[in-house]
Amino acid sequence: MIDGIHGNPTVYLNGSWLPLSDAKVSVLDRGFIFGDGVYEVLPVYGGKPFRFQSHLSRLLRSLAAIRIQAPMPEHQWASLFTELIARGEGEDQFIYLQVTRGVAKRDHAFPGPEVRPTVFAMSSPFQRPAQTVRDSGVAVVSLPDERWLHCDIKSIALLGNVLARQAAVDRGAIEAVMFRDGFLTEGSASNIWMVKDGALHAPLKNHLILEGIRYGLLQELAERLQIPVQIRRIRQQEVAQADELMMTSATKEVLPIVRLDDQPIGHLQHRGSPGPVYKKIRQAYDALIDELRLARS
Ligand SMILES: Cc1ncc(COP(=O)(O)O)c(C=O)c1O
Repeated sequence: MIDGIHGNPTVYLNGSWLPLSDAKVSVLDRGFIFGDGVYEVLPVYGGKPFRFQSHLSRLLRSLAAIRIQAPMPEHQWASLFTELIARGEGEDQFIYLQVTRGVAKRDHAFPGPEVRPTVFAMSSPFQRPAQTVRDSGVAVVSLPDERWLHCDIKSIALLGNVLARQAAVDRGAIEAVMFRDGFLTEGSASNIWMVKDGALHAPLKNHLILEGIRYGLLQELAERLQIPVQIRRIRQQEVAQADELMMTSATKEVLPIVRLDDQPIGHLQHRGSPGPVYKKIRQAYDALIDELRLARS
């Protein structure tokens, strides 16, 4: 039994399927030594991966960005995910996939081509955000973004994110909303959205944030709902004065942020509670999940 993990699921490691408790990597793995690797988290609804192609493209972009050759061709990723889901527990799951540069003598410079990347993947039962959280919203705190300048890469080196998230938890919040040079970047493990005067605002997609799969998705949903979208630099002060705030990620889906630094967000009757734009987006997001569940494989 591993702390916090139910049972002993079968996981994938370097071409083998084995119980999680037997899955071992060398202490010389560059993921362990240097945080030299990338990862993905992908939700599965009704046994089907959600936005699989977008997650795969982002994985391939992350690998290319850190110059790890894709360890398998595209169709093999699809088979790997299909098998993981089939071996996984329940209809709703989330897949964690990690690729590191492999095991080699400790040296910052890359090892030779004979060193193969380490590929690890596992599926866990997915508890979607509880209705109470969706209805009442979450509290966040603001923090300076102290991470490196390649936040666009989904790197496993997450110390900056880990420390930010813990600082939020220490203050009784669920997420840290980060600001660099006075402008909004993102959450420690989520993208952050602001609503002002009926429009949805998000920070620029650049090296300072991870392009969440829900970043493109929320824009799509907003377009469908005829909600104007503005992608631009957002000042910290604007965030504090937003009509609504939301966060998105694979496992949080889309959640309303109702308190920032202990102050209620929004105005008039929506102050400190989820707003109308969130509710429309939430409904559209749920509809996509329902569609996926009903779709034929
Ligand atoms: C730093 C960061 N930004 C944004 C996101 C949202 O990405 P996605 O919607 O693909 O889960 C995540 C997800 O884990 C993240 O870690």
